[in-house]
Amino acid sequence: MATRNKIGIIGAGNIGGELARLIISKELGDAVMLDIASKENFAKGKALDLEQNSAILGYDGNVTGTSSWKDLEGADVLIITAGIPRKPGQNREDLVATNLPIIRDVADHAKEVCPQAFVIVISNPLDAMVYEFFRRTQSDNNKVVGMAGVLDSGRFQLFLARAAGVSVKDVRAMVLGGHGDDMVPVLSQCTIHGIPVTQLVAKDVLDTLVKRTRTGGGEIVNLMGTSAYYAPASSAVAMAEAYLHDLKRILPCACYLKGEYGYKDLYVGVPASIGGNGVEKIIEIELSSEERTMLEKSVANVSSIVDIVKKSL
Ligand code: APR
Repeated sequence: MATRNKIGIIGAGNIGGELARLIISKELGDAVMLDIASKENFAKGKALDLEQNSAILGYDGNVTGTSSWKDLEGADVLIITAGIPRKPGQNREDLVATNLPIIRDVADHAKEVCPQAFVIVISNPLDAMVYEFFRRTQSDNNKVVGMAGVLDSGRFQLFLARAAGVSVKDVRAMVLGGHGDDMVPVLSQCTIHGIPVTQLVAKDVLDTLVKRTRTGGGEIVNLMGTSAYYAPASSAVAMAEAYLHDLKRILPCACYLKGEYGYKDLYVGVPASIGGNGVEKIIEIELSSEERTMLEKSVANVSSIVDIVKKSL
């Protein structure tokens, strides 16, 4: 008998709720939102609201709120948002102390109840949290990825579309490296319907857009007092959909590197093909010497945060 996909969402907060809404609106499967015991009723209430919403809008899919990991048994996909988001004045690295014990708790449970799931980590600092999840569970590295590149590239795409006065649908942008303020928007790979952006947008404007993309998350934290949730949720759902429907989409994701781009034993944002086997291929694109230097700086920063994580074993 065919069964619906089960998609576990860890953390029923801002990103968690939007994830569940997107998952059932796309009829990707049933969503199970798990939060800590003291927020179980909150998770249940949000789930009920989302199910009532689906009755009005007319799409099928169950949403469950829970604090019991048993409900995640056999999940096909797990999307992890558990942790605290940034507040104004904080950078993502400031979250290590709080979010590290949380990702460890989540990893231990996930390993027990859904070891076969395709796992997408969103919690920050992203590159270190996804590394720790992988290290702790010793899962297949192709089944554990971090969500950052789709979001950062989306932000860059919007800014480029606005600057060029074109539809966002025609802009393709690529942002690589760590999910920090030294991420690498790869201008040599950014096009507007195939035309290099460097031919359509002036250099000084591009420089401003690169800067705005790098601090794109912080801009929203400063305005809202907490971090973004609509675009992060959509980005993770694009990754989940590529896996569940074996789409083999090329998406920039934080992937475990085993020598690609010259790096080993680190999660770094790179273009990857996501299909039914998870990360099916990491694509190595040619970088200009300036982009290569920026990538080195960004990876050095990722590495220094991973070192903090390793020291606290
Ligand atoms: N297990 C399950 N859920 C947990 C755990 C845990 N061990 N610890 C915390 N949570 C829950 C919180 O109770 C909260 O409901 O995670 C939820 C996080 O929700 P929000 O505070 O609304 O945060 P959100 O905006 O969704 O961001 C979550 O994603 O982008 C990153 O930096 C962001 O690390 C943050 C994460």
